[in-house]
Amino acid sequence: FGIIAVPLLVGYLAGSIPFGLLIAKFGGAGDVRAIGSGNIGATNVLRTGKKGLAAATLICDALKGTLPVLFFLPNGEAALAAGFGAFVGHLFPIWLKFKGGKGIATFVGVAAAFWWQGIAAFAAVWLIVAATTRYSSLAAILATLATTLAFWFAGRLEIAFAFSLMTTLAWLKHIPNVQRLLNGTESKIGTKSKDKP
Ligand code: G3P
Repeated sequence: FGIIAVPLLVGYLAGSIPFGLLIAKFGGAGDVRAIGSGNIGATNVLRTGKKGLAAATLICDALKGTLPVLFFLPNGEAALAAGFGAFVGHLFPIWLKFKGGKGIATFVGVAAAFWWQGIAAFAAVWLIVAATTRYSSLAAILATLATTLAFWFAGRLEIAFAFSLMTTLAWLKHIPNVQRLLNGTESKIGTKSKDKP
């Protein structure tokens, strides 16, 4: 039991750190929850117009997924629990009354820790969709699917199962984005925003 519970908790606490909120606040960009989509992720920090803060958010949110996994490797089950915990921590952080982000950067961080080639699938799909549509959310929805399929095809079955759960949770968190994509009000990458839609 401890072999799963301890890494799950360690990962969860790491994932709960709301880097986007902290970086935007201390970087002088205000409360990121009050602008754009209201999300605490790098995409929304970018809507403040401060690219450096968005990049820092992306890196920190990814690392809080990568580092707990690396800490528990080579025990694969413990590492997977830590990575899953970090992802869930980002989505439902204890520090923010469980109102967290959408988990995409942390998803990539966890994937990279297990199999750096796994992020090639993510990066390829994300970049193609983002470059052609300028929608970060659509790119994330399709890239999470591609990453999960890559783990299944590579025969990394336990990891693929965990990533299927993570993808499902990430997609549920993107329901407002899908609604905005369907009615044409989703904001595109590079659009600054001061108010919530
Ligand atoms: O990675 C998060 C992205 O997919 C959507 O973010 O702020 O547009 O809801 P946002």
